[in-house]
Order: sequence, then C-alpha cells, then structure tokens
Amino acid sequence: MATSTAYGLSAAAIAIVLLGPASPAGAQTANVKHGGEVFATECAECHSVREGKDKKGPSLFGVVGAAAAQRAGFAYSEALRGSGAHWTREVLDAYVANPQKAMPGGKMKYDGLASAPDRADLLAYLASLGTK
Ligand code: HEC
Repeated sequence: MATSTAYGLSAAAIAIVLLGPASPAGAQTANVKHGGEVFATECAECHSVREGKDKKGPSLFGVVGAAAAQRAGFAYSEALRGSGAHWTREVLDAYVANPQKAMPGGKMKYDGLASAPDRADLLAYLASLGTK
C-alpha cells in the first residue's frame, strides 16, 4: 500500500520490459494489463511470475487454483504449509487484502492491497499466466 506511490512508476516500467505483454486469456471485465502494473508495484519486489523462479516469496506462476505451499524448494512458513488452503480467487483475494489476517503466522511481510478493483485486476493478471 504505502510502497505503491514511492517507486511505482519505475517498478512498473521495469516489469513491463521483463514480463512482456500479459496474455489476454481470461481478461473479461477485469483489466489484465492494469493487473500487471499492480503486480509490478505491489508484488514484484518479492515475487516472480516466471515458473520456478523464487525470490523472497515463491513464484506465482499458475498459483490461481493451485493448492497453497506447493513450490518445491521454497521454505514456506508452518502456517501456510499447514493451512490446507486452496488458492481460489476468493481465498487469494482475502490473502492479498490482508495477509496477516487471512494467514496468521504466515511470513509474507506485506500490508495488504486495500483496493478491491486493483485486487480483481491483479488476480485476472495472475490467472492469465496459467492456471491449474
Ligand atoms: C515483502 C515481500 C512480499 C511481498 C511484497 C508480497 N509477497 Fe507474497 N509472499 C511472500 C512470502 C515470503 C511468501 C511465503 C509466505 C509463507 O510461507 O507464509 C509469500 C506467499 C505468497 C503466496 C502463496 C504462494 C504459494 O505458493 O502458496 C501468494 C499467493 C502471494 N504471496 C501473493 C502475493 C501477491 C499477489 C502480492 C502483491 C499484492 C504479494 N504476494 C506481495 C512475500 C511477499
């Protein structure tokens, strides 16, 4: 939240270069392109969308619809590993809105994304990268 205004523009510009254009699949009413920008400013510091590329957080490739804590080789928190969570859009939406509330004891140090429209675009973007 607080980070988005500070270095939003440059991070977005870098991510557009690195990620290339988002796939239009699943665009519907949500704005996938804007979702990619939200990802760049809010999430890219810790997450890559490249398959198998972990940063501070695990790769988010194909995360929509997947079971939580499945990336081989990533040291998840006990809380997330034991959660049995499934990343449906609803569960993801609640997690991104407030990680500490949705996953108490988890180690994603992110304050949450308050804007529901931004979250919808972000999830559309993540879903456009591949679903399981
Ligand atoms: C400061 C670093 C940081 C930021 C910023 C961040 N995350 Fe995370 N994220 C993590 C870490 C660390 C984990 C592992 C959490 C755990 O093990 O409890 C994680 C886990 C996740 C997971 C679970 C993945 C899985 O394999 O089960 C999702 C989904 C996720 N983050 C989405 C996001 C989204 C979307 C954003 C942007 C809105 C974001 N994160 C921003 C660090 C971050």
